[in-house]
Amino acid sequence: MFALNFNNTAMHIFYSKVALIAYLKTIKTANSTIGFVPTMGALHQGHLALMQRSIKENDDTVVSIFVNPTQFNNPEDLEKYPRTLDEDVKKMRNLSDKIILYAPTVDDIYEGHTFSQPFDFDGLENQMEGKFRPGHFNGVGTIVKRLFEIVTPTNAYFGEKDFQQLQIVKKMVEKTHLSVNVVGCPIFREESQLAMSSRNERLTPEERKEAAIIYKILTEAKEKFQTNSPEETIKFVENSFKDNERFDLEYFVIADESTLLPIDHKSKDKNYRAFIAVFVNSIRLIDTISLN
Ligand code: PAF
Repeated sequence: MFALNFNNTAMHIFYSKVALIAYLKTIKTANSTIGFVPTMGALHQGHLALMQRSIKENDDTVVSIFVNPTQFNNPEDLEKYPRTLDEDVKKMRNLSDKIILYAPTVDDIYEGHTFSQPFDFDGLENQMEGKFRPGHFNGVGTIVKRLFEIVTPTNAYFGEKDFQQLQIVKKMVEKTHLSVNVVGCPIFREESQLAMSSRNERLTPEERKEAAIIYKILTEAKEKFQTNSPEETIKFVENSFKDNERFDLEYFVIADESTLLPIDHKSKDKNYRAFIAVFVNSIRLIDTISLN
């Protein structure tokens, strides 16, 4: 265990699960609650908002920073994923001295077997991110389950930008009977309305500015969807990106919010959501918007 002391605020940092588990035993009481925010680091305001909420709603808060290799289907994406632990520690230290950080090595998590286990998420895994990133959700399920077993949180906080991931984690908890309350939190956006993401760090300032078009088109699509069919709305989005050389639309899907299945017509009393993945040069960005 390391207690880093800056400006009179101490922060507990653990690199091994054995040490973390031993420490959590010393602070847990019969009725105390642990909030958990799993991250892959390169922290932005969105992550910090999840931490703030956890701190407010729980006695103790654990944050993990771990770039999980088994959820990357593209080795270049894994290699280039930003790793900024020192900066991240500073941000968390500025936020609160209550955060307990778990920043494990790959070996501490996978113990020499860096593979994901297969999951059945009742079909939630077959659309969108699951379709375009084969194996991604088995990797997410594997790491989140492992982290939940280590941290044993009462509440775990996830951003709605990764809405499909949020539904998948809820399903994993339901199927594995882990007693964790999974809390979805609203998307944090930059001033330009670009959804906050660690990947935004890899955009040039110009690309970052132009990427604001993603949310602009999403909001226009939402408006179109009120009076047009799903097909017409999809065409509108596809055409909007066709003329723009900088952007390569991977998918735009309108889906039922609970099953995540794409729809071809609207029914009353259903909740719909649009999902988008766009490449800005080689950087892949996702976003989502509720259509109701
Ligand atoms: O959303 C993320 O950052 C990751 O997918 C998560 C949940 C931390 C698992 O590695």
